[in-house]
This record gives sequence, structure tokens and C-alpha cells, in this order.
Amino acid sequence: MGIPINLEGKNVLVTGGAGFGVGAGVCQAIAESGARLVVNDLDGVAAAKTAARYPGTLAIAGDIGKSEDVERIFAEAKVHCGVLHGVVNNAGVGLNKPAHEATEADFDRLFGIDVRGLWLVSKVFTNQLLETKEVGHIVNIASVHAHSTNAGYALYAAAKSAVTGLTRGMALDLGQHLIRVNAIAPGYVHSEQGFEIIRTWADDPQAWADTCRTDQQALPYFLDAVDCGYTAVFLLSNLSRGITGQTIFVDNGTTSMVFNRSFTERS
Ligand SMILES: NC(=O)c1ccc[n+]([C@@H]2O[C@H](COP(=O)([O-])OP(=O)(O)OC[C@H]3O[C@@H](n4cnc5c(N)ncnc54)[C@H](O)[C@@H]3O)[C@@H](O)[C@H]2O)c1
Repeated sequence: MGIPINLEGKNVLVTGGAGFGVGAGVCQAIAESGARLVVNDLDGVAAAKTAARYPGTLAIAGDIGKSEDVERIFAEAKVHCGVLHGVVNNAGVGLNKPAHEATEADFDRLFGIDVRGLWLVSKVFTNQLLETKEVGHIVNIASVHAHSTNAGYALYAAAKSAVTGLTRGMALDLGQHLIRVNAIAPGYVHSEQGFEIIRTWADDPQAWADTCRTDQQALPYFLDAVDCGYTAVFLLSNLSRGITGQTIFVDNGTTSMVFNRSFTERS
């Protein structure tokens, strides 16, 4: 018999879970773990579609950047499934613009969702756990940009670095309550639906993705969103009871490199 990871009887909220990227893989993995999935998204229709894929899933529309929405998300979850035992802070937006060209509105939107929103969700979740004397865990979705970055991503790298800082600090605040806080930093997660976004910087999205796979990773296959999801399930389970405050890079080896593979390739 293998080592079981079973989250049956747990309720887990995934924010921004209705997208096609990391959130989709996290929702799949949480559903496979046996936990009851609560999927939030700004886009209520898309959240309902995701919920329909996994029987028993609750969909709650809401903007995690607004404290009144965050309070409502937790209140609705409590009415429908009781207390939440886990949160995956996945909702996020990107920004590809040099810092000196970005506007204050760009900055406020990015930090308002990726940092402030994530903090608001974590805060309400923690206070609900403390009030009900339940134990639960937080998994934040950061990015490889919290480790090293590219031109045009300074503000995104700053926002995701704030996420890893918050992860470390909250882990120290909450350890006494047995609440663990960790982060996952994904590399390039492959999905053809993402090609529209890639087209904003590359003429041939497939060629760009293939170069990512063959030249910018140690492993020769694409990173799948569910690879992040399975790591989230591990971090929410007791198998990771010795891990808190950490950021796990789920990146097929990207952040272990200084230069691309082709730098030292032998023919
Ligand atoms: N896709 C990747 O390759 C990749 C790599 C590293 C990190 N990430 C991170 O993964 C997370 C998910 O992004 P994704 O790439 O899967 O994108 P995505 O666009 O597929 O999903 C993001 C979802 O978040 C929702 N959302 C946006 N703002 C929201 C808000 N204020 N409140 C609630 N929901 C909101 C969107 O509606 C969307 O459904 C983000 O935090 C992102 O930074 C993604």
C-alpha cells in the first residue's frame, strides 16, 4: 500500500479557480483528493462551469481585492459547507511592462489583487479558524519571478516576492496555532488557451512554448497545471506537517539554471 493523501472531510477554497491555468489544475487535484472544493472567481459564470465539473463543488463569485467580497465569500462558504480547512490563494493577474513605464493604476491593480487580495483572504481565513478553533492551512501561488526574472517583469517579480515574504512571516505568526503557510512558485504552465497571451510577445506561441520546454527547463516535458495542484494537495495534507514558511518551485527545473540549456549543449 502506498502513502495515502486523502483530504476527505476537508473543505478547500481555491481563489481564481475558474481560469485555464494554474487554478484549473489546483481545482482538479483538490477534487481528486476527496476534499470538498469551493471555487471562487471574479467571473461567476466561469466559476459555476468549473464547479459543474466536480460534483458537490460550491461556486462563489467575488473580487478578492475587495474586503466586503472576501467577507461574503467566507460567510457563504460557512453557510453551505461549514468551516474551511484550506485555502489556495491562486487568483492573480500579471503585468508585462517595464517598471519605469508602468502607471500607478497598473501598480495598484497588480498589488491590489496579487498581494493585498491574497493577504485579505488569508486574514479572514485565519480569523475564522481562530474563532472556531479549527486547524487549516494556506497555500499561496507565487511564481518563478519571485526567484529570478526577465526584463518587463520588475513589478510582477516584486508582487510575487511579496507573496513569498508574506508566506514566511505568516508561517511564523501562525505556527503556534498549528496553521501552516506555504507557497508554490510555478514555472511556465503549458496550456493552448494561454497562446493568446503569449501572442502579445511572440509571433509563434507554439515555437515559444517549445523553446521554453527544451531550453529553459531541466525536464523535457511541459509543466501541467495539475503538477501545481498535486503539490498544493501535499501542502494541505498532514504529510507536509514539517513544512511551513517555504516556497516550493514547481518549475521543471527552470530556477536551477543560470543560463539556458543551449549554453552548454554538446552536439
Ligand atoms: N500560468 C502560468 O504559467 C503561471 C506561472 C506562474 C504563476 N502563475 C500564477 O498562477 C495564478 C493563476 O494564474 P493563471 O496563469 O492560471 O491565470 P488565469 O487567468 O487562467 O487564472 C486567473 C483567474 O483569476 C481570476 N481573477 C483575477 N482577478 C481576480 C480577483 N480579483 N478575484 C477573484 N478572481 C480573480 C480570473 O478571473 C481567472 O479566472 C496567478 O497567481 C499567477 O500569477 C501562473
